[in-house]
Amino acid sequence: MKNARLAGIGYYVPEKVVTNDDLSKIMNTTDEWIVERTGIKERHYADMDKEKNYIMGAKAAEKAIEMAGTNAQEIDLIVYATLSADYVFPGSGVLLQKELGCKNIGAIDVRAQCSGFVYGLSIAEQYIKTGKYKNILLVGSEIHSIGLDYSDHGRHIAVIFGDGAGAAVLQPTEAKDKGVLSTHLHSEGEHAERLAVLDPGFYKKDRFDIEMTKPGGGFYPVMDGQFVFKNAVTRFPEVIMEALQANDYTPQDLDLLIPHQANLRISQFVQKKMGLAEDKVYNTIMKYGNTTAASIPIGLCEAHAEGKVREGDLICLAAFGSGFTWASALIRW
Ligand code: UT7
Repeated sequence: MKNARLAGIGYYVPEKVVTNDDLSKIMNTTDEWIVERTGIKERHYADMDKEKNYIMGAKAAEKAIEMAGTNAQEIDLIVYATLSADYVFPGSGVLLQKELGCKNIGAIDVRAQCSGFVYGLSIAEQYIKTGKYKNILLVGSEIHSIGLDYSDHGRHIAVIFGDGAGAAVLQPTEAKDKGVLSTHLHSEGEHAERLAVLDPGFYKKDRFDIEMTKPGGGFYPVMDGQFVFKNAVTRFPEVIMEALQANDYTPQDLDLLIPHQANLRISQFVQKKMGLAEDKVYNTIMKYGNTTAASIPIGLCEAHAEGKVREGDLICLAAFGSGFTWASALIRW
């Protein structure tokens, strides 16, 4: 069996930058509160006249495809991770297939929220390992800005999210000790409603009711922030250690940890708990907020562009979020 390597990576964020001060003009919040609690200074919001979820995904994908030295016609599977799909159904994977002009290949949509990219990586990796596919396009893309509750009820959530997309092309590598070394997936559905958008779901007879769209209604994300925070700072170190131990490594062997960007305070907590130096954990949340399935590939691209992901480096990707789901991947670049 051949390992899968990330032969190409790319990302796209919308042009429009929304600072904390911009938000404080449309809702009851302050730059001071947001920076102190989350580390976020600004985020990007899509222009819905031209930037849909799958269009941002396609822009990120085009860069990854180019870097991998291939083309859309050669892609033999799409894996698309998002919690903000363009339609209720079908998933955005098929829209990406059309947009890129890929052949009539399979398109798998992954619903694992913040862990979506790592879940998707795990799926793609298995198809490469078994030899079934040779060129898999993995995308994480999110449009949060049009789905947030900017009232006092939702302000703790509205300030943290941003829009963006990231992508990778996975290909087999001849090198035995390179590429994705292992992936580790977890879930705990007991806490599904602690971080969720419930409506308009298929779980009750009256799917839609105008009350849902009022502040505090089920149309908007709900989050028990402190409960999520506590779980995140436990699950991140657990799942990172799981990946390291599965490959006989310790935290000191890591060249870079790229965690899902939920809150800068969570990343700092994980860094300290694992005894990692500050420069071993890569954060982008200050600029982009929490872009759920897109945050890891965006971080990977920026770290790579800055020369922080080099040939032979040991890289860990780790995520925690709605579901709850959590996951990690260990990669020898
Ligand atoms: O990616 C998915 C995973 N998500 C996460 O990991 C998020 C984890 N949770 C968190 O990051 C934090 O819980 C938040 C940053 C979301 C919120 O921070 P918090 O310290 O848990 O705040 P809180 O919601 O408990 O609110 C504390 C206070 C409240 O005021 P009182 O009752 O103490 O007077 C809130 O009303 O802060 C108030 N508040 C705000 N004030 C200004 C809440 N949101 C805001 C806001 N601006 N945006």
